[in-house]
Amino acid sequence: MKVGVVYYPEHWNRELWEKDADLMVETGVKVVRLAEFAWSRLEPVEGQYEFAWLDEAVEIFAKRDIEVILGTPTNCPPLWLYEKYPDAIQCDEHGNRVSIGVRGHRCYNSPSLIKKTIQIVTEMAKHYKDNKAVVSWQIDNELEAYHCTCPVCTDKFREWLKKKYTTLEKLNHTYGNVMWSGEYSSWSQITPPLGERQSWLNPAYLQDHYRYASESMVEFVKLQADIIRKYCNDVTITTNMYLGNMTPDFYKTFKELSYASYDNYPVVVIPKDHEEIYSHAFHLDLTRGIKRQNFCIMEQLSGALGCWMPIGRTPRPNMIKGYSLQAFARGADLVLNFRWRSATKGAEMFWHGILDHNNKLGRRYEEFRSLCHTVHEELQMLEGTTIRNKVALLFSHEQDNAFKFQQQSEGFHYYNQLKLFHDGVMRLGVGIDIINITEDLAQYEVVIAPTVYIASPEIVDNLTKYVQNGGKLILTNRSGVKDESNACIMDYLPGPFSSSVGAVVEEYDALGNDTNRICMENGKTYRCNQWADILQLETAQSLGTYMEDFYEGKSAITKNRYGAGEVYYVGTVLERDFYKDFMSDVIEGTSVETVKNLPDGVEVSVRENDTQKYRLLFNNTNDVQEVRMEDCETIVLQPFEFYVVR
Ligand code: GLA
Ligand code: ZN
Repeated sequence: MKVGVVYYPEHWNRELWEKDADLMVETGVKVVRLAEFAWSRLEPVEGQYEFAWLDEAVEIFAKRDIEVILGTPTNCPPLWLYEKYPDAIQCDEHGNRVSIGVRGHRCYNSPSLIKKTIQIVTEMAKHYKDNKAVVSWQIDNELEAYHCTCPVCTDKFREWLKKKYTTLEKLNHTYGNVMWSGEYSSWSQITPPLGERQSWLNPAYLQDHYRYASESMVEFVKLQADIIRKYCNDVTITTNMYLGNMTPDFYKTFKELSYASYDNYPVVVIPKDHEEIYSHAFHLDLTRGIKRQNFCIMEQLSGALGCWMPIGRTPRPNMIKGYSLQAFARGADLVLNFRWRSATKGAEMFWHGILDHNNKLGRRYEEFRSLCHTVHEELQMLEGTTIRNKVALLFSHEQDNAFKFQQQSEGFHYYNQLKLFHDGVMRLGVGIDIINITEDLAQYEVVIAPTVYIASPEIVDNLTKYVQNGGKLILTNRSGVKDESNACIMDYLPGPFSSSVGAVVEEYDALGNDTNRICMENGKTYRCNQWADILQLETAQSLGTYMEDFYEGKSAITKNRYGAGEVYYVGTVLERDFYKDFMSDVIEGTSVETVKNLPDGVEVSVRENDTQKYRLLFNNTNDVQEVRMEDCETIVLQPFEFYVVR
C-alpha cells in the first residue's frame, strides 16, 4: 500500500523540481503521477518530440526511489494540432465545433486525432519502455462518453445502428418511430442527438446512442492500451474515472486495463442531518467492484475545492488523512493526493493542493505527512489483503442511463436508490460489494438489485438463477418496466420478475416529494416518498402496507419463496432507518455477521488474506464516537479517525 501525489513539473520553475522531490522523500511520498496534460511540451511542433524535460523529472524521482505513473496526454491536444486538424475538435449539440480553451475538446473518432494519438503514445511508450521508474500508465484523463456530433461521429453512429438493426424497418419498429412521424426513410436522416430538447427525444434512440458513445470511448482507451502493452513489458495500465453525467461503461473500460482508478473528492461539509445520504464509501465500494479487486485513488482531496465554482470550506482537521485511510479500508492499494501544490497560474489555481501557494508546510501538509507515515510504517500488514463480502448490491449502466433520459418522479435518482440500501447494510457493520448486474452471484448470500428498469433476458436470467439456487434477492419499484430497447413491456409490472416476486403491481403512484406511510408487520411505521407500487399478491406474503391515500391497507413490501431462495420486493422508497431495519431482517439467518450497536457514521470493513483478518473502523462523522465491539474493549474514535482492530 502506497501514498503519492500528482505533480506537474511543467507548471514549476526548474529549480523547484529537486526541492519538491526532496521534500516528498522527507514526507514519505512513494509515487507521483506526471504528464497527463503535457502534450504541448512533449510535442511542441508536429513530429518533434521532446522528452528531455520529462526524462529529467522522472530521473529526479527515480533517484529518490519515487515511482512514476505516466499519463498519456491525449486529453489536451495542443493548439497547433487543432489548428492543423480541425476535425480533431468535438462538435456540440448544434453540430458546431466547440470553442477551444478549456480541455477535453478532442473527438475520439476523429481520424486525425487517432493518428496523432497513435504517434504520441507510440513515441512515449518506446521512449519509456526500459525506464524502471515508470511503473504504470494512466490513459488520458477522466474520460467521458460525450456526444460528439461531428460528421465522422455521425457516420460512425449510423454504421453502428446498421450493424445492430440491419434494416431501417427493423430500427423504426424497435424505436417506435411512427410516433410524431419520426420514421427514417434513409440512413442519412440519422444523427446523434441534436438540439436543446433532448429529453423529448425517443428514449430507445438515446439509449442506443449512449451505448455507442461509450463504446467509442472504450475503443480509444483500447487503442492506447494496446500500444503501451506492445512496447512496455511489466507495466500496469489504468485510467482515472470520475462519476458524472457522461460516465462511460466503466466495466467495459476497465476490462481493457490492469486496475480501476477513481478520483475521490469527498464532501468537506458533512450534512448535519443524516437523512441526506452522503456516502464516500459507496463510491469506493463501486470502484472496488469494477474489476472485483483492489484499486487506486488517482486523485484524492487535499484542500478546499474551487475555481469554476466559489471556493468551498477547507477540509476539517483529520479529513485529509481520514478520507485516504477510508479508501485503503475499502480496498485501495494506492492513493495519490491531488495535487502536491496548488497551482499559482491557470484556471485551476484555487483547487487546493497539499501545499498552499505560499509553499510553506501547513496544517494539511502535516496531516498528509502523518498519512504517509501511517500507511507506510503502521499498516503494512494490510499489504496483499483483499475484501471478501457476502452481500452484493448490483449496479447497471443500462439502468443509470435510462433514468438519466427519463426521470421517474421528482427527487428520483438511480444512485440514491442504491445508496439507501448500501447505507442500510453499512449501518449494520456489514461489508458490501457493488458489482455489475451481469456478474456471477454465486458467492453472495444476499443480493440487492434496486430498480431493474431495463430487464434484458441476460439480467433476468442471472437474477432468477441466483434465487432458484437458494439466494436471497431484493428487488424494488421500477423493475421489469422495459425491454432491452428501452421500450415498455406490455405486462403487469414487475414484468419478467412477477413470478419470482409472487405479486404484481396493480397500479402505481409517482409520489415524487409527496409522502405516504408504511406500516410493517411488526407495527413499525416509516415515511415513504417518490414512488408507490400498489401490489396485488399472488404467492407472496405482505411485509408492509400503505397507511394513507386511496390505497391504504394495500401491500407495498413483500416476500416470496421461489426455487430454493427468496425474493423481497420493496415497492416504494422509504426513510433511511427502514433500510437498516429491513436489511437486518433479511440478513438474519444467513452467515453474515453484523456489528451490534454500531454508532451511526462509523464504518466497518474487513481486509483479509488466507491467514489473517483485519477489521477496520472509520469514523466518518464530525463527532467523537465510542464503539463497543463484542470481542474487544471500547474504542474511542476522534472525527475521521481510522482504527485497526486486530
Ligand atoms: C479532476 C481532474 C484534474 C483536476 C481536478 C481538480 O479530477 O482529473 O485534472 O482538474 O479535477 O479540478
Ligand atoms: Zn466526433
